[in-house]
Amino acid sequence: MTELMKAVQINGFGDRSVLVLNDIAIPTPAENEVLIKVKSASVNPVDWKIREGYLQPMLNHPLPLTLGWDLSGEVSAIGKNVDSLKIGDPVYSRPDISKNGSYAEYITVVADEVAIKPSSASWQEAAGIPLAALTAWQSLYDIANVQAGERILIHAGSGAVGQFAIQLAKLRGAYVYTTTSATNTALVLALGADQSIDYHQDDFSELKDLDVVFDTIGGDTQANSWKTLKKGGRLVSIVENPDETIADENGISAFFCFVQPNRKQLEALAEYVDAGQLTTNIDSEYALDQVANAHERSESGRAQGKIIINVSP
Ligand SMILES: NC(=O)c1ccc[n+]([C@@H]2O[C@H](COP(=O)([O-])OP(=O)(O)OC[C@H]3O[C@@H](n4cnc5c(N)ncnc54)[C@H](OP(=O)(O)O)[C@@H]3O)[C@@H](O)[C@H]2O)c1
Repeated sequence: MTELMKAVQINGFGDRSVLVLNDIAIPTPAENEVLIKVKSASVNPVDWKIREGYLQPMLNHPLPLTLGWDLSGEVSAIGKNVDSLKIGDPVYSRPDISKNGSYAEYITVVADEVAIKPSSASWQEAAGIPLAALTAWQSLYDIANVQAGERILIHAGSGAVGQFAIQLAKLRGAYVYTTTSATNTALVLALGADQSIDYHQDDFSELKDLDVVFDTIGGDTQANSWKTLKKGGRLVSIVENPDETIADENGISAFFCFVQPNRKQLEALAEYVDAGQLTTNIDSEYALDQVANAHERSESGRAQGKIIINVSP
């Protein structure tokens, strides 16, 4: 008899009413995959952007689709070609976004996308790390190649990605400016930001000769960021493809980053966490049957860290 599990799925694109809690078959791992019993998942804005169908031209997901692409959990079965992990390992992952996600009691993930979770982090904290921290890592380390002593502006330092970006930029020895509202000033300074700019009151575009801008907002925020950079500076956006003509006119190298799964980077992040150098702040926690509320919180744009779904005890 097929064993069933609970999973939050969509069978069409739209508002939060398309989310349904289904009983579906527990998947079987392929030769290069592991089956993970999910402890916690985390919500990222991409989850509700996919739910709305906004990314369908790019991802072409088949339906029904299980949402959620961040997780912590325990390995409960392994494919026959997997030798990097064993049953019972406590792991975390940002799995392939083109496949079924982690708002489910079990998920199969390619072993190369899975790492042992930081031992000092709770299941909830660990689930909050992969997608947001890999995004910050790949944007700041792989693409912008931030160096010690460089001056960087990180937009939305109080957001999930922004919080990891502040900490990773400081670990590289950069000087960090960040935008947020007054409510979050203490939060971003505690994470290590050197200066917090209240974007409701102050004009961040008065900053000059920066080395790097990390754009997590797009629109006017990106448009007003060009003039803050020095010639030869770098702009990395994770929300909107930067205009190459404007970049050329300003002598700036501009990039778009779309985060990719990466086991080695998850291992390096776990080391930072266990060394006490990287913190995860949790904004709120929900049960698997409360995903709609969790999406509502994420869609508000006011989250102050990770939104967690507690899947199993
Ligand atoms: N390309 C990729 O691979 C990738 C990966 C991850 C995320 N993303 C995208 O990156 C964006 C950020 O993701 P996230 O998870 O960090 O979001 P998030 O956690 O939901 O961000 C919420 C934070 O943004 C701040 N904020 C909102 N508007 C702001 C503004 N105009 N200026 C400064 N801060 C502002 C809010 O602070 P206040 O309440 O103080 O305003 C809040 O703390 C999303 O659009 C997401 O889809 C892309």
